[in-house]
Amino acid sequence: RGLFTMAVIPKPKRITGSEFYPTAEALLEFGVHQVYEPPIGQKFDITECANHLQTVEQQQNIRFLGVIPLRESAVDYSDVLAALLGLHVHNDLGLSSARRDKGLMKTAVANAGLRVAKFARLTAQDGSDVPNAIKSLELDFPVVVKTPRGMSTMDVYICGSMEEAVRRSGQIVRSVGPDGKKANYSLLEEFLVGSEFAVNLIASPTTPRGVQVTDIWEYNKVSTDGTMVNTWQTMVDPHSDTYAALVRYAEGVCRAVGIKYGFAHVELMSRYDEKKNKFVEPVMVEVGARLAGGRKAIMAGGTGSGG
Ligand SMILES: Nc1ncnc2c1ncn2[C@@H]1O[C@H](COP(=O)(O)OP(=O)(O)OP(=O)(O)O)[C@@H](O)[C@H]1O
Ligand SMILES: [Mg+2]
Repeated sequence: RGLFTMAVIPKPKRITGSEFYPTAEALLEFGVHQVYEPPIGQKFDITECANHLQTVEQQQNIRFLGVIPLRESAVDYSDVLAALLGLHVHNDLGLSSARRDKGLMKTAVANAGLRVAKFARLTAQDGSDVPNAIKSLELDFPVVVKTPRGMSTMDVYICGSMEEAVRRSGQIVRSVGPDGKKANYSLLEEFLVGSEFAVNLIASPTTPRGVQVTDIWEYNKVSTDGTMVNTWQTMVDPHSDTYAALVRYAEGVCRAVGIKYGFAHVELMSRYDEKKNKFVEPVMVEVGARLAGGRKAIMAGGTGSGG
């Protein structure tokens, strides 16, 4: 249909040796029409990238229609790039950090009147501010200590003791986060109980409530060495009354962090109420302004086509 896709690789493998980024060759082979990488020897710069893309638009007589983040670390600057390209189909720029930083995220969601986990930001290099924070939030063990802008469950720790929480917090404050940037603080969170779900949504002003739930997954995670590891996940019916509270909550979370266009992925915990026969009191773990990872999109597509 004359659609042209251009991939942006901020950290090409040939420079960083990063095994997590695809190569330009692999993307082109996959069907992407063109790939932008920062010039050799230069770091990725969003205005340089926009400049290059607009030149491509003029020279090749094409129009970019939208920018889609294909990984968590691209969530914050994809909307900025869209704005620099003169597009209006992007998420709220003023909330772009609230879609990435799990502290700002919780504040935005709480401000919308939705329940969030109790949390505190810790900055002591030796973790010595942990005991006071646990006391003032009135938290019981376990508690969760994590890096504010993580991904792939790197630097997320379920801590069963004060000693462990202190150690993990200090470690996060002193280190560079999984995204290669220095974490300004570590995040202490209340440990949420219940079943864990992932709710996937599509946002568009053409849907009645701005966002629309497409699929819900129930996770079965087990704690392995203080980290939650997924053992299996199953798709549940988003139209069933059993999950109605999750649908409403996830939609509210997306609106709260300014998701207006494209995909969203809300992870939450919810308790099953035996009497009401439904899941109640959902609380967010995090929201990602992107398509779900872990092959969910492929699996959901597979079930849709009877595959
Ligand atoms: N406050 C919490 N209470 C209970 N469990 C939590 C809490 N925070 C995180 N977890 C558990 O740890 C997992 C990973 O946490 P989180 O989603 O914040 O990290 P992540 O690095 O973004 O992970 P991923 O990319 O795997 O989603 C969650 O899916 C959940 O199982
Ligand atoms: Mg997560």
